[in-house]
Amino acid sequence: MANKSLSNIVVLISGSGSNLQSIINNADNIGVKIKCVISNKADALGLQRAKNAGIQTRIITPKNPTKRKEFEKELAENINKFHPKLIILAGFMWILSSEFVEKFEGKILNIHPALLPKFKGLNTHQRAIDAGERVAGASVHFVSSEVDSGAIIMQKKVLIATDDTAQTLAKKILAQEHILYPLAIKKVLQNL
Ligand code: GRF
Repeated sequence: MANKSLSNIVVLISGSGSNLQSIINNADNIGVKIKCVISNKADALGLQRAKNAGIQTRIITPKNPTKRKEFEKELAENINKFHPKLIILAGFMWILSSEFVEKFEGKILNIHPALLPKFKGLNTHQRAIDAGERVAGASVHFVSSEVDSGAIIMQKKVLIATDDTAQTLAKKILAQEHILYPLAIKKVLQNL
């Protein structure tokens, strides 16, 4: 039976969807209903996770690199159909235009595998190791028009061991992301 106290969210993915899985597993605890999972990659494993949980899925792919605007228009139209309180980016590999971000200002959250403002962008684990950092982690932040630069909502630290590789560190951080993301979503919803 539908529970009126749940907040509708839409989750955007591109790949494995392990963070999506964690949100699915914690949905009741944090008071959300995942109305739809949208992927920009047809082969994203996360689509199967959504289907297994009985969640609607959509695949929306840019027709070609020059059709960026059309892609984001279609994305926005599909998101709007579900009237979500929040749009959750969970491994969504697409840099949203400032036009799109402004349309949903304060409603888009992202998880990034680094202690922002350090190590924005890609290859965060290797870059943290190369920089001689002793502590890494993950951040959940609001999405702004500048990549990985919106207000930080919550972070979780992970110690870097001397024998950590990018792969072992990524695995440790991902395990913490799965704890962090549901908590951060709950925090934002409580403050809306
Ligand atoms: C995570 O490391 C997340 O921080 C980054 O992309 C990865 C997605 O992993 N933005 P998954 O698809 O949730 O397993």
